[in-house]
Amino acid sequence: MKLLMGSDHGGIHLKKHLAEYLKAKGYEIIDVGTDSEASCDYPDFAAKLCGEIGKGTATKGILVCGTGIGISIAANKCKGIRAAVCNDVYNAKMSRLHNDANVLCMGERTIGVGTAELIVDTWLNTEFEGGRHARRIDKIMALEK
Ligand code: RB5
Repeated sequence: MKLLMGSDHGGIHLKKHLAEYLKAKGYEIIDVGTDSEASCDYPDFAAKLCGEIGKGTATKGILVCGTGIGISIAANKCKGIRAAVCNDVYNAKMSRLHNDANVLCMGERTIGVGTAELIVDTWLNTEFEGGRHARRIDKIMALEK
């Protein structure tokens, strides 16, 4: 499965760790940057990753910044994106089950790598429940219009 990943400087170490972790599990990782520890602006990388989802490069992506907050706010401005900040496993599960999140955001300064690994495993392996939640997602997506 193809998976997009992106971060700013505040999330680059966790992103690189998770990229290797997921590659070892067979995922094809497409990293949209940033590639260095130099200070940069997280909206640029949120926009890049979400643009690739819009083009159909992959259906899901993972974004990391210092907290996960800024990069998720930026991602949620992009068409077709449902980005969720999940710095714990319960929220990771619920963001897929009930919210059909297509972008997972985490904070490198908020969580450790062990928690982050469990979060991505949970998020990537949980399917959207549909049913009454589908009606709510339709209403969220209608807000873009
Ligand atoms: C960068 O210093 C930091 O503000 C950013 O990574 C993120 O935490 C913003 O929400």
